[in-house]
Amino acid sequence: MFGIWSGLPGDGFYLCEQATGYGLRSAGLRRFERLAMPVHPDALQSLGLAIVASSNSPMVLLNGDLRVMGASKTFYRAFQIDPVGAPGRLLFQLGAGEWDIRQLRSLLQATAAGDAEIDAYEMDLALTKGDARRLVVNAQKLDFGDATHSYILLSVVDVTDARLAAKLKDDLVREKAILLQELQHRVANSLQIIASVILQSARRVNSDESRHHLTDAHNRVMSVAALQQQLSASRLGEVELRAYFSKLCDSIGASMIRDHEQLVLEVKADDSTSEADVSVSLGLIVTELVINCLKHAFPGGRQGKIEVGYESEGPNWTLSVADNGVGMPKDAASATPGLGTSIVEALANQLDARVSVAEAHPGTIISVAHTEAADIGTDTGR
Ligand SMILES: Nc1ncnc2c1ncn2[C@@H]1O[C@H](COP(=O)(O)OP(=O)(O)OP(=O)(O)O)[C@@H](O)[C@H]1O
Ligand SMILES: [Mg+2]
Repeated sequence: MFGIWSGLPGDGFYLCEQATGYGLRSAGLRRFERLAMPVHPDALQSLGLAIVASSNSPMVLLNGDLRVMGASKTFYRAFQIDPVGAPGRLLFQLGAGEWDIRQLRSLLQATAAGDAEIDAYEMDLALTKGDARRLVVNAQKLDFGDATHSYILLSVVDVTDARLAAKLKDDLVREKAILLQELQHRVANSLQIIASVILQSARRVNSDESRHHLTDAHNRVMSVAALQQQLSASRLGEVELRAYFSKLCDSIGASMIRDHEQLVLEVKADDSTSEADVSVSLGLIVTELVINCLKHAFPGGRQGKIEVGYESEGPNWTLSVADNGVGMPKDAASATPGLGTSIVEALANQLDARVSVAEAHPGTIISVAHTEAADIGTDTGR
């Protein structure tokens, strides 16, 4: 009477002897050796055959000479082998000799000699119909403590379709990334064309007010164009904020600063990166705040400096735009919030951030900060 403990080749086989005087040892189950008792070779061959016959995956029982003792139905079916002629033949003689692979032969010989175990060995099998399969092979010696009676359990997993699916997926992911970059590149180009048309209109109109509105519109479009450019250059879809803000400020400066000796626009940001949707909001906030500095902080050709800052720590970040200009107007009438204020507040709300305005003596510093406390949502207004 035997009790079979395990049927997976990777786990090895273990026989609980109850009535006979024989036991089975397997390399994978040395830890059970203390319990094992000698098992009669015939009984163990029958057991090996029973395991192979009941297997749903391709499996072969070989003797010590590497002759086929039996194989699972799935083995015969998957590898187009005639089940009638197979038993008694060398594994390497099966089919049209496609199993006669030098490396497999030496690995199995080493396993039979007890020198090695085959664990997830990958090989290509060329089937007769010109169909090449990628296989993962495991082999385990069933050692009876008797050198003349040893068996090898060979299990084969056909991973051709899985590998093909994985490759297809990789190709699709790569293709999608290329398409996305191409799309971002095209959007960036289109936005730049729109922005330059707006700027040309701004130069042509006679009214100062219309010119200012058109210049602002140009900068708003350029803010998104700069982001798209940044995205088309990034592989991971993350935007490097320092490079993005610098490009943005260069573009705003080019359209709004006439004398670069009089007004300096600088970016001081750490190495942070952020996702595209967050970056687009940050870029639009920077655009509005910098435009405000240029429009309101330095009247009458006043000299000065504008500094865009960004720093983050974990999930918390602070974006600031500081100028050393005249400061916010004290009288309520001049400080009427315009489109800029509502854009900044709406975007800050979207980012769960808080806007604060402080006097900088001289000038103004406007900060937009996202903190864990802001996440809780007790104070989102300015
Ligand atoms: N950096 C600054 N220095 C001095 N005053 C400022 C500054 N930023 C904003 N202001 C004042 O705050 C007001 C509101 O700004 P806001 O951006 O909302 O409107 P706007 O710039 O006047 O118009 P719009 O943004 O619609 O073009 C401005 O009119 C200006 O008086
Ligand atoms: Mg404004």
